[in-house]
Amino acid sequence: MRCCTAGALRLRRSPNKYMTYPNLAGQFGSDLTVGKKSDFPAAKPENYKIGQAGIFYVQNAKTYISHLAAGTSLLLSGSGLTDPLTSESFVKDSDGSLWLALYQRCVHLGCTVPFRDDCVSFKCPCHGSHYNVDGEYLDGPAPRSLDRFAMSFSGGSVVVSTGTLNNSVPHPDNTTRIIPVPTVQCSAS
Ligand code: FES
Repeated sequence: MRCCTAGALRLRRSPNKYMTYPNLAGQFGSDLTVGKKSDFPAAKPENYKIGQAGIFYVQNAKTYISHLAAGTSLLLSGSGLTDPLTSESFVKDSDGSLWLALYQRCVHLGCTVPFRDDCVSFKCPCHGSHYNVDGEYLDGPAPRSLDRFAMSFSGGSVVVSTGTLNNSVPHPDNTTRIIPVPTVQCSAS
């Protein structure tokens, strides 16, 4: 599994975001159109399957697109939900589904984190950090939840702003967790 501890990105701090640079058009670090919305069909967390339902890897953007179906059961409601959705870079679509663009890099020591269909979650092979379908921290040594890029829609296409990284999503607790913890056990490998 590829590891990227050697500072592949240089980061500049701004109030709530970290910006990557240089920002070359069409390359990682810029706004990248990663496909049409229809290329990323939504699913409920328990039905996520890499490349088929809910979760999709986009190599040139170093991103997992996570697309939660409308009607997914969430643990929060009202402002208790909308505030963390905003601060954690979720994008709400007109059909009620929720989108995220998760950076592939483990926030512990930088390994690329695979999505495991058998765990319906992300499990880092290096030291075991474990993250839910929306990147929320589950267990392991990671100091926070997975980082996420800003994303938007342009017509029917999905755009990931790989120059704008939200790397300040803390461990959730019982009052802030958005998605229920998976019920399946996840082995080390
Ligand atoms: S790099 Fe992922 S758990 Fe250490």
